[in-house]
Amino acid sequence: MSPNVSRRSFLTTASSATVAATLASTVSWTAKSYGQILGANDRIGVGIIGAGVIGTAHLNVIKNLREQNNLLPVAVVDCWKTRADKGQALVEAEHSLTDYRRLLQRKDVDYVVVAVPEHWHSTMTIDALDAGKAVYCEKPMTHTIPEAQAVMKKQKETGRPLQIGVQAMSDNSYITARDAIRGGVIGKVIQAQIEYVRRYDAKLGPWRVPSAVAEHQIQPADLDWNAWLGHAEKRDWDPHHYFEWRCYSAYSGGICTDLFIHRITRIMRACDLLYPRRVVGMGGIWQWPDGRDLPDNIEMICEYPRGMTVYVLGTMSNRVGIDHLIRGYRGTLFFTATGWVAKDKDGKVLAEHHKTGAEDQNLHHTNLHNHLRNGEALNCPAELGMAGVVAVNMANESWRSSQMMGWDRVHEKMVPASTLQQSHEPEE
Ligand SMILES: NC(=O)c1ccc[n+]([C@@H]2O[C@H](COP(=O)([O-])OP(=O)(O)OC[C@H]3O[C@@H](n4cnc5c(N)ncnc54)[C@H](O)[C@@H]3O)[C@@H](O)[C@H]2O)c1
Repeated sequence: MSPNVSRRSFLTTASSATVAATLASTVSWTAKSYGQILGANDRIGVGIIGAGVIGTAHLNVIKNLREQNNLLPVAVVDCWKTRADKGQALVEAEHSLTDYRRLLQRKDVDYVVVAVPEHWHSTMTIDALDAGKAVYCEKPMTHTIPEAQAVMKKQKETGRPLQIGVQAMSDNSYITARDAIRGGVIGKVIQAQIEYVRRYDAKLGPWRVPSAVAEHQIQPADLDWNAWLGHAEKRDWDPHHYFEWRCYSAYSGGICTDLFIHRITRIMRACDLLYPRRVVGMGGIWQWPDGRDLPDNIEMICEYPRGMTVYVLGTMSNRVGIDHLIRGYRGTLFFTATGWVAKDKDGKVLAEHHKTGAEDQNLHHTNLHNHLRNGEALNCPAELGMAGVVAVNMANESWRSSQMMGWDRVHEKMVPASTLQQSHEPEE
């Protein structure tokens, strides 16, 4: 291996040991492998697509980590030019663009952040992977299950790294809970509960932003509305759709895909879960029937093939939550503000953990940087992203169709559970 090559890093989804072995055995660099090497001085070139609320948070992360993690903000893209320009100024990026495909053509971009509404996640992620980029895609990985499957396929085909933006996965509470549970600390796991609760203003339901809507009754001249709509149904400029897209199923799955995904992923990681066997979602447009077509209050229960249920309590009308915990036959594992504690039925402490990570985008990006440089395992890889998308989409479909949904493992799709001959016993 030439010293020149050894100074550089090799982008891979494999472990650092595999990386070392791969480098050692590489005699000559093919065009493809050369494209997997970071830029000069080990610097990582970053492009951000979407400079809205969370895109701006990502830009601040890039700004914070720029020196420490040796990053180069190459370009900020937004189909609203004003936002792209603002984002560019924030990180002093070289370019402000409105068409994300121009970003993907750039050789100095190593990874792309996808921070746009859900309905665009799959197309942009697939295009970025195809262009040889690593991707940090905001949660949910995709809007629909078939889109998640297409992304997974593309990720496997290209081998490019894909980090999903469930940043709580960079809090090591969940992976350490998994190890403790695997070790039997609470015995056979039977049930978990978690919640997402908020209390919105009586006049304004979830995600309504009347000030922005009132201010933009007329479409901004430098906003490409057709680009924003993408493959969604064409319609005239509608500031409700632009600013309040989480209220409409054409662009979002609402509470389930926007909020519950954060919670269910924690339990999936801690309990080694992938696809649920059966799911119910119940709720309604109960308090804010204001034109939205997604529930303003909803809850979900997922049953997993190993024989356990996960209950996700949710309401947008009351802030009183419940403990986040996992119930086993021997004891209970409680997640706390500082990590977790496992107790037996009498309250005796069986084990505890003080977290070192946090639900933090800085850590989540740094994890991707470490992955690019030395093969550190990704904290929220595509498999976990897709499993979350499956669970929350099944809950939404259950709500929509008033049926219990089942996961058809043979055809890898959700169907009404009543059409499957599913067992009531553990299958794993
Ligand atoms: N991880 C978290 O905690 C967290 C928090 C908030 C939002 N999010 C996720 O981030 C994503 C964005 O949410 P947001 O609240 O920032 O939305 P937003 O509406 O505030 O911003 C989205 C931006 O994307 C731009 N955009 C849309 N389509 C585009 C296209 N085709 N080309 C270029 N730009 C385009 C819009 O103009 C807008 O500026 C969503 O998936 C959301 O679920 C994650």
